[in-house]
Parts: sequence; structure tokens; C-alpha cells
Amino acid sequence: MKIQLISPTEKYRESFLRGCREFQHEGLPWWSGGDLETVEQDFAAFVAKKLADSTRRTETLVPKTHLWAVAEEQFVGRISLHHELNDALRAEGGHIGYDTVPSFRGRGVATEMLRQALPVARALGLTAVLLTCDDTNAASIRVIERNGGALRETRPLATNRPLKRYYWITLP
Ligand SMILES: CC(C)(COP(=O)(O)OP(=O)(O)OC[C@H]1O[C@@H](n2cnc3c(N)ncnc32)[C@H](O)[C@@H]1OP(=O)(O)O)[C@@H](O)C(=O)NCCC(=O)NCCS
Repeated sequence: MKIQLISPTEKYRESFLRGCREFQHEGLPWWSGGDLETVEQDFAAFVAKKLADSTRRTETLVPKTHLWAVAEEQFVGRISLHHELNDALRAEGGHIGYDTVPSFRGRGVATEMLRQALPVARALGLTAVLLTCDDTNAASIRVIERNGGALRETRPLATNRPLKRYYWITLP
């Protein structure tokens, strides 16, 4: 499957919403906007907000670039890059996070999304990126390690949660 990373756009409205409905079964992720009906009603505003995140800075948020993965003219996943770390991201979240639409999993989408996102991170001025991942998330561990992630640390965040892995990828 040939995957292309693109900036959020209204062009992929239908398959993006379809993907979100699939995610709904796992609990809607934060990046879907939380309330799909609102997103559906004003998709242009949703896309605009995603694009604006790249320059938005608040007390808790750092600028973040959102990228969508498209294959065969369909939204198949998303990846986002924080331009820098703050204490919260250092503890959990790291620089880069990604999700593959459930019906497209196991076909190399996340591995390819991360591969293509690394030069984007480099272009943002980063020389190394932190990726955090649950110790139980075998697929994500594989994605990170296939992209050169070096495990720096594994530690508990809370007693009722899996251990957290901290990987760094050096950017050439
Ligand atoms: C983790 C996730 C992004 C992986 O996406 P994906 O597109 O299916 O990943 P890939 O197809 O690139 O697979 C990566 C590797 O994991 C392996 N893999 C896939 N699903 C797996 C599973 N359930 N258990 C073990 N390994 C698995 C694949 O075989 C592949 O290994 P390979 O390179 O040796 O063939 C996806 O499962 C997902 O969106 N999960 C929910 C959100 C999430 O966990 N995000 C990451 C947070 S750190």
C-alpha cells in the first residue's frame, strides 16, 4: 500500500469520518475532536483548528503538526509531531504519536507514517525525538524499533497502568 502523509484537508472528509467511527469502538481518541457530530457539522472548522495547532502555544500546549496518512484516496491513519517537549510530554506523549484506522492495521501503515514523519521532525529543527509507548503495545513497540528507536527507559506511571517505554530516535 502506497502511503502519503498530507496536511489535514477537507478533501478527505468522508473517509476521515468513517475512520473516526471505527475508532469509536475503541473509545474516541483525543485528536478526533471528541464529539464526532460537531466535527461532521463543521468539518472546515475542525480542519482549520488542526492546521492552527502548528503555531498555537498555551500554558499547557506546545505547537504541534498534524499529518494524515492517505492510501488509495482514503484516510488510513494520523500522526502528529510536537515541536518541543514540556514536562507533561516528557512524562507521557513524547514528540510523536500515531494511530492507524482499525481496518487498515497490520499493513505497515504506522511503520511507514513514522518513517515519513522523521524528516518532518528534522525539518522542524529536532535532532532527536522521544516516543513513549505502553510496554504492552506490541505493535507500537515494533513500529518504533523498526524506525531505529533506542529504548532509554521503562518505568511505571501509575500502579493500575502498564509500564511506559521511553524510546529516542536520533535524526540524521
Ligand atoms: C499501534 C498501531 C499504530 C500500529 O499500527 P499498524 O498500522 O497496524 O502498524 P504496522 O502495520 O506498521 O505494524 C507494525 C508491526 O507491528 C506488528 N503488529 C501489528 N499488530 C500487532 C499486534 N496486535 N501484536 C503484535 N504485533 C503486531 C506488525 O506485524 C508489524 O511488525 P513487522 O514490521 O514485523 O511486520 C495501531 O495498532 C493503533 O493505531 N493502535 C491504537 C493506537 C496506538 O496504540 N497508538 C500508538 C500509541 S504509542
